[in-house]
Amino acid sequence: MSEIDVVVASDEHLQYVDEILKTISDAAKVRGTGIAKRNPGYVKQKMREGKAVIALDGEKFAGFSYIETWGHKQYVTTSGLIVKDEYRGCGLSRRIKHMTFTLARMRWPEAKIFSLTSGAAVMKLNTDHGYIPVTFAQLTDDETFWKGCEGCINHDILVRTNRRYCVCTGMLYDPDRARSVRDADEEVSKDIVKIQEKIEARFPNGFPEEE
Ligand SMILES: CC(C)(COP(=O)(O)OP(=O)(O)OC[C@H]1O[C@@H](n2cnc3c(N)ncnc32)[C@H](O)[C@@H]1OP(=O)(O)O)[C@@H](O)C(=O)NCCC(=O)NCCS
Repeated sequence: MSEIDVVVASDEHLQYVDEILKTISDAAKVRGTGIAKRNPGYVKQKMREGKAVIALDGEKFAGFSYIETWGHKQYVTTSGLIVKDEYRGCGLSRRIKHMTFTLARMRWPEAKIFSLTSGAAVMKLNTDHGYIPVTFAQLTDDETFWKGCEGCINHDILVRTNRRYCVCTGMLYDPDRARSVRDADEEVSKDIVKIQEKIEARFPNGFPEEE
């Protein structure tokens, strides 16, 4: 496997959107989970706004994720994390997560970053970035976010419990908490400094306008 490049996506990556969405939906079928609905236009918008991260092996698509804001930008999620089968187990999702996390911190330093996941790998990554498990009451109350759960096979549980509990674990990174990412994992914090420089170089005139 050649060196895989992990970059903030832009217009030049729009051609990969169909493959990204198919890979996400195929992976959900394999895991037997539902997923938040995402249409191509939405993912393209994320790329145009500098809110998506893509991993490429030369011209070949290898992985993807993007950031979304909720509740008037008080909350951010890193969403849609996917690594193609043939690139798994080599630390690629960790590199992608470093970049989406850093992008989120740079763009909205005051925002809390949260994750709703049933995936062990994602829980591990979140923990390494300083997230802690929380109850759903500590996550956003933005209806648009929770609407995304409607496509999940477990949605009935969320409805039955009045959105208090479900199969997924809620995890939260709170920038105000004492235990920041710097304490969480020394390696992560070293990487993040490098990634910050890379993102700054990518957007020398600031981040793109939001649509
Ligand atoms: C989850 C996924 C993104 C992981 O990608 P990956 O590139 O293989 O993951 P990495 O190699 O970067 O591993 C990240 C960390 O998770 C751990 N991990 C990976 N797969 C794991 C698993 N199935 N169970 C537990 N831990 C796991 C790794 O050990 C690693 O931790 P470490 O660096 O401390 O060893 C990939 O399997 C995938 O795309 N799955 C389908 C989509 C999905 O589940 N997305 C998440 C939705 S919430």
